[in-house]
Amino acid sequence: MSVGIEKIGFYTAPYYIDMVDLAEARNQDPNKFLIGIGQKQQSVIPPSQDVVSMAANAAETILTEEDKKTIDMIIFGTETGIDNSKAASMYLQSLLGISDYARAFEVKQACYGGTAGIQMGINYLALNPDRKVLVIGADIARYGLETPGEVTQGGGAVAMLLSSNPTVLALDGKSAFYSKNIMDFWRPNYTKEARVDGHYSNDVYVDFFNRTFNQYLDRYNKQVTDFDALVFHLPYPKMGVKALRTVVPQEEENNPLWVEFNHSKLYNSLVGNLYTGSLYLSLISLIANSKTIPAGANIGLFSYGSGAQGEFYSGVLGEFDRKLLKQSVDQQINRRKRLTITEYEQMYRSGLKETADLSINYSDDDSRFVLKGRAKDKLIY
Ligand code: HMG
Repeated sequence: MSVGIEKIGFYTAPYYIDMVDLAEARNQDPNKFLIGIGQKQQSVIPPSQDVVSMAANAAETILTEEDKKTIDMIIFGTETGIDNSKAASMYLQSLLGISDYARAFEVKQACYGGTAGIQMGINYLALNPDRKVLVIGADIARYGLETPGEVTQGGGAVAMLLSSNPTVLALDGKSAFYSKNIMDFWRPNYTKEARVDGHYSNDVYVDFFNRTFNQYLDRYNKQVTDFDALVFHLPYPKMGVKALRTVVPQEEENNPLWVEFNHSKLYNSLVGNLYTGSLYLSLISLIANSKTIPAGANIGLFSYGSGAQGEFYSGVLGEFDRKLLKQSVDQQINRRKRLTITEYEQMYRSGLKETADLSINYSDDDSRFVLKGRAKDKLIY
């Protein structure tokens, strides 16, 4: 029996900034952002979207009424929680009309939360093959205006339906992981903006990739050439380049792993970091944009969450309507309105405000689900 991802959906907010505009406003050479970081655009998340509404918008693109009845678990990976106690999955469950006879909870370990959800989900399905699990990765990446991390902001949500009919990616259960208490990136409770030791975080990321990848190769007696594609958590596209070139020289640009990597970073270079959803947007980007990767391809996935947890695991690409996925994601990205840097700064600042008893008015956010405000501390969608 195989288990894994049956359906995958993506949402991002209807606004973006162009990285050339940002570079000019910050007195930087645009090529630092375009080439040095590898980012072209960045989604901007308005106060009318939070992780619940973004997750609902992503999940709505993939779930049927039959799926909603069969879901036994809703696992919500996020580090942009909306409540210190109540899980975002509770709001999501009622917004989507998923069966009340489900487990619903939230998972946190920086960008790793979505992967934790997937690993937990496939274990459950191995014992309950007739059921389904909904896994969410949704976040808003905020470092602060005029900070070095600003070019690596972004946000959005990926929703994945797991089942024993893994038409997108069958997971073979092979995995290697490594964790250590490290201060590379964190966000204290009193702030909505991350604290980061940027260059150190890059080094730890590459170190954790090498440790988990080599552990995987040793454990399962595999080689780099056994993979048709490697996909990475992409806080920004250049990060994946830094990791991949430690196992395949960058000069080998026709090597299939480099060719497929270039497909896997396309959407991330337009959306920015969406933390828990970032690896899975990269997976979407690969399968939607590559014309060379066939069903049956062996895919390796590197998940990294600062603080820090790394995991390298693998799966086999299934057969499904990849054109439809591409249409849906292209539509999400192409519908976005380009903001001036002044408009973005205003939107960013209003996103930092607490929403206690606040009514939110962004009338041009035409998403199916929006955060309308708060009434007596209850979030209203
Ligand atoms: P910085 O220090 O301003 O940039 O911030 P830099 O000086 O290192 O330059 C960046 C690159 O641009 C360099 O290339 C430069 O050479 C190049 P590299 O040496 O890295 O290959 N460059 C140019 N290239 C072409 N033309 C030019 C030019 N000028 C310079 N004219 C940094 C960069 C990534 C540190 C910053 O944006 C940051 O702190 N970002 C946030 C942290 C981050 O994303 N870390 C990634 C690893 S940690 C992670 O993935 C977890 C995370 O997702 C959180 C979670 O788990 O929840 C972040």
